[in-house]
Amino acid sequence: MPKLANIYLIFDFFINNADYRITRLRAFWADAEKKGAVEGEHRHKLINFSVYYIQRKLTFDYLAKKYILRDLFLKKNSALTIKIISLALAMCYFQSNSEGVLSELKILLRQYQNGAIASSLVLAVNNFLEKSSFVAPEIRQKDEAASLSLRYSCPRELTAHLICETGAEAAAEILENSIKQPDAVFRLNTFILHNQKLRDDFIKQFSEKYFVDLRRVYRDMPLYSCDRSAFNFMLTDLGEFRAGLITPMGKSAFMAAYILDARPGDLVLDACASPGNKTTHIAELTSCAARIIAIDTSDSKTAKINDNIDRLKLNNIFTMTASSECLDIAKLKNKFSSLEGDGEIFDRILLDAPCSGLGLIRNRVELKYRFNMSDLAGMPGIQRPIINNASKMLKKGGYMLYSTCTINKKENLEIVREFLNGNKDFSPVPLGDRLKAFGRDFNAPDRDCETLQLMPDSEGHEGFFFALMRKN
Ligand SMILES: C[S@@+](CC[C@H](N)C(=O)[O-])C[C@H]1O[C@@H](n2cnc3c(N)ncnc32)[C@H](O)[C@@H]1O
Repeated sequence: MPKLANIYLIFDFFINNADYRITRLRAFWADAEKKGAVEGEHRHKLINFSVYYIQRKLTFDYLAKKYILRDLFLKKNSALTIKIISLALAMCYFQSNSEGVLSELKILLRQYQNGAIASSLVLAVNNFLEKSSFVAPEIRQKDEAASLSLRYSCPRELTAHLICETGAEAAAEILENSIKQPDAVFRLNTFILHNQKLRDDFIKQFSEKYFVDLRRVYRDMPLYSCDRSAFNFMLTDLGEFRAGLITPMGKSAFMAAYILDARPGDLVLDACASPGNKTTHIAELTSCAARIIAIDTSDSKTAKINDNIDRLKLNNIFTMTASSECLDIAKLKNKFSSLEGDGEIFDRILLDAPCSGLGLIRNRVELKYRFNMSDLAGMPGIQRPIINNASKMLKKGGYMLYSTCTINKKENLEIVREFLNGNKDFSPVPLGDRLKAFGRDFNAPDRDCETLQLMPDSEGHEGFFFALMRKN
């Protein structure tokens, strides 16, 4: 729980940062720690609280308005007052009691309201908390989208879109999962930890050093997870991260390199590569014996890939700033003179396309507040030219994996269907065999399926889409 003395800092952050970007949030608390305003051990808890609040902000705002302010007409600072009460409710729910919060709330409210109003608001909060239990409340509204929107704090437009895409029941499940705390998940660098003994020793030492109970996500796979609330730190703060031994990675994103299945000796194109989580994963799995060309659109994006390559101590990855929409062999040869062949030179292409990111609704908590339908409608127009152009550089007999971290059909199935209709030399590849290694019980319709749509589920997967295609 945030130390109550930090309520002012929490308030300060949420008043001044309307888009709630997680990177900004982390920077804010890191800065507060540097200035001595919070102690190191509290920083992570404060981040956890902030994430919890962002996940549920609309719900708490609604509760504050409906049950605390009720008919009270405030002459001034009503929006601010709702925000303070909403935050105070979140703190009480987060720590499952109101100890200490209400006295802080009174002091804070007195800065914006007269003493009598501040006291009656605090009393109303107290009464509300006594009557309600600490769970996501069911909020009945005139329609399903409005009810789910308030219950799970998801803007109504996005909620309605999810219902339209997946049906009301699945949308409710996605939204319920979206406010759960994701596990901390990381993969081991199998290029450095190159045998099972090294990996087992590393995991044992890591668990003992940080007092965490690490679980394998998939049987026999070097991906580990643990309850994030057990951590008093960020994975990226650890020496093991800086030394390139671990890389935070989602459970679904981890599958991409295995589905692509690059082999030593292959020439691989990662057409949309930054920050290089999948590029570097492919390099680790091929023990740096495949040559990988990683493309992204700006120097700052390729710099991020280079940072990861250096951190993970990998070689055989070559980065280039370009657009995969108009990349061709001549441009590639201009940069990499050792490339041979014309036109179709790659054995494998990973096309992890820019997308709406709706599958990351649990991991990137601020995304839902930035959602808008016109951005969504524009995504296929970005994805289509990239797949059409990148595919031209694939060898006959080669494989191309199209993936996104969204659950939006127009960016997934429809893009792939349209591509296959217009490119008869490509055929879909059933994923069943490549998914076996994940030990998941893929049900019958999935087994022969040529695409895989993962949803943000109760097992902690991100929403992800995969379609593997072969050029004949
Ligand atoms: C989903 S992210 C890739 C994530 C990356 N594969 C990873 O696992 O770390 C999509 C990337 O595509 C890049 N992108 C967008 N348009 C592009 C284009 N025309 N050519 C190449 N990359 C592009 C974006 O800059 C972004 O970094």
